[in-house]
Amino acid sequence: MSRLIVVSNRVNPPANPGEASTGGLAMALSAALREYKGLWFGWSGQTTDEFNGRLSIQKVGGVTVATVDLEAHDFDEYYNGFANRTLWPLFHYRIDLTAYDRSYGEGYARVNQRFAETLAPLIESDDLVWVHDYHLIPLATGLRRQGIAGPIGFFLHIPWPPHQLLATLPRARELVESLFDYDLIGFHTGEWLDAFRDYVLKEAGGVEGPDGRLQAFGKSVRAIADPIGIDAADFAQASRSEAADEHFETMVNSAGGRAIIVGVDRLDYSKGLEDRFLAYERFLEDNPEWRERCFLLQIAPTSRGELEAYQDIRADLETLTGRINGAYAALDWTPIRYVNRNYRRDELAGVYRAARVGLVTPLRDGMNLVAKEYVAAQDPDDPGVLILSRFAGAAVQMPEALIVNPFSQEDVADALRRALEMPREERITRWRALMDGVERDDVLAWREAFVEALEATRREEPAPSPAV
Ligand code: G6P
Repeated sequence: MSRLIVVSNRVNPPANPGEASTGGLAMALSAALREYKGLWFGWSGQTTDEFNGRLSIQKVGGVTVATVDLEAHDFDEYYNGFANRTLWPLFHYRIDLTAYDRSYGEGYARVNQRFAETLAPLIESDDLVWVHDYHLIPLATGLRRQGIAGPIGFFLHIPWPPHQLLATLPRARELVESLFDYDLIGFHTGEWLDAFRDYVLKEAGGVEGPDGRLQAFGKSVRAIADPIGIDAADFAQASRSEAADEHFETMVNSAGGRAIIVGVDRLDYSKGLEDRFLAYERFLEDNPEWRERCFLLQIAPTSRGELEAYQDIRADLETLTGRINGAYAALDWTPIRYVNRNYRRDELAGVYRAARVGLVTPLRDGMNLVAKEYVAAQDPDDPGVLILSRFAGAAVQMPEALIVNPFSQEDVADALRRALEMPREERITRWRALMDGVERDDVLAWREAFVEALEATRREEPAPSPAV
């Protein structure tokens, strides 16, 4: 079996396989690495004055991890700059927040080249290389320059924007061209895949070959939709843990018989938190009989705090929470509990189980695994109701949720009422269908589909592509 080399900006394998503080993706990739005997390469999380290319190689929880420090200046232009001030907002359709500075693009190219030079000597000829997310789009180009000829795959964990939006990026063509140095590109949904294909066909003059590969820039690449899932079995176990039970009890006791509506999101403008709070306010306004009988628990760990857009959203949410609580609270009732702390997966499982409604309303989201974890944590005999934005990738796979338009406060307010009043039988029917999907399309299915498709590219004879 070939080794698997996983590459991502953040490298965070759990110290031991069952560790509950680690995110689902990290757990899944570590499991793959233990099986394939590969290594995980990326940024160490540290910065230095000058880039030194020194690798730190360690064994963490059975996984070999190779990391490198970033130069402080690079970190600013690559991570804070091009990744999070340019690509993140642009790919989430927020051109109003997108910074188009040239220096960011230069820093991004430089770091990707430095990563490629540092990583290349670790790659053996039979290895499969799997690169993750928007920080590292041009990595394959750098690796090819270093003479790496084997299969390299790329997976994008965020949406791919419509071609008209991508065209606002000065060097969009170059970015897309660099994706043609991969053998396989994966997206979570057909929508993001179609948007990528649109760009290739409409803006880059490419064509789709008879074998389904996209051809442009004198090269060809295979692109697939492969939706990520959660490790359902592992999450079910986390939901039965002591920590989950404790958190379930805490929530039930502190709710005092009131219905809990829960939201869990990184504090990010793509998550639609302001619209969500406004929709909840609207719901309280329109449904006075529900006041004091429910509350919204919003868990929102802070994120990318050096960036102005993230400082702004934090300030706006604090103001909004204060206003809504000020207007509606009673002596013994707070309408919104707003928490900036991070919780472990097993603790969250208990919180999800205690919540009558899971409110997942991003304005745009590549997939959204909170929706799946909420479902997986429910009591089969008395499950809660998932309210899900139609603009989350997960909506394609989860039609039995109450699907809403997060831009419409009325729509979300109506769904809240419907969810809170839904008869048990309907809750069970919807939950069963959702849970079947969560169990079937789990993280293992995602990983296997990608690795098999990447392995299969070794046998493909790339069609000669037109010179464009
Ligand atoms: C999203 C991205 C990930 C990223 C994570 C946390 O889920 O798709 O690549 O790691 O956000 O963001 P951060 O900037 O803290 O790595």
